[in-house]
Amino acid sequence: MKHQYEFDFGRICLKPLEKEDIEPLRLLRNQEREYFATQHEISKENQEAWYKSYLKKEDDIMFKIVKKDNLQEFIGAIALYDIDWKNKTSECGRTVVDKDKAPEKGIGMEATKAVCLFGFEVLKLEKIVGEVLKSNERIIKVDQRAGFYIVGEQGDMYNIEMTRDSICLN
Ligand SMILES: CC(C)(COP(=O)(O)OP(=O)(O)OC[C@H]1O[C@@H](n2cnc3c(N)ncnc32)[C@H](O)[C@@H]1OP(=O)(O)O)[C@@H](O)C(=O)NCCC(=O)NCCS
Repeated sequence: MKHQYEFDFGRICLKPLEKEDIEPLRLLRNQEREYFATQHEISKENQEAWYKSYLKKEDDIMFKIVKKDNLQEFIGAIALYDIDWKNKTSECGRTVVDKDKAPEKGIGMEATKAVCLFGFEVLKLEKIVGEVLKSNERIIKVDQRAGFYIVGEQGDMYNIEMTRDSICLN
């Protein structure tokens, strides 16, 4: 959805994903596509169509990740989507960090903590869920450090969850 939310945590800041970010996001996402459940290559046209429909959705909040010491540079993205406003739940995902631009450790973890804290504090969510490939050791480590725990599995995916009480902020 079109939004104006911003959220700071640690070394990073989450800002609304703008039109100018969708090409660097597409390139990064294509480069890292083996780590996502949907692994096809995304074309420029697909990306533009996706962004147009994203802006119209009322249950999808996509952020770009920037570093506080360089607010202009896109270094990655993360989202809360399928937000169920009535039941106060959401999915968290689409996490991706450009390790060439942000080689320091823990940037993806700070973005994960930031988006979940935003979900609990600003959106007043009660539970955040996600799905990760069992083979994706990095995101499993990052998500567990942020406070997600594995609640189930389906084929090659784990189902994960976080509540206000399980978020890990230090
Ligand atoms: C997952 C991701 C966001 C993590 O970013 P980050 O927090 O900046 O990652 P870090 O560099 O701090 O690495 C996290 C941990 O994974 C480890 N790691 C790094 N590369 C690894 C690899 N190839 N295999 C296993 N573990 C790896 C790191 O050593 C670190 O653990 P440590 O702190 O115990 O040493 C980033 O790697 C990424 O964008 N990956 C591709 C996209 C993706 O997988 N998205 C999730 C889709 S559900």
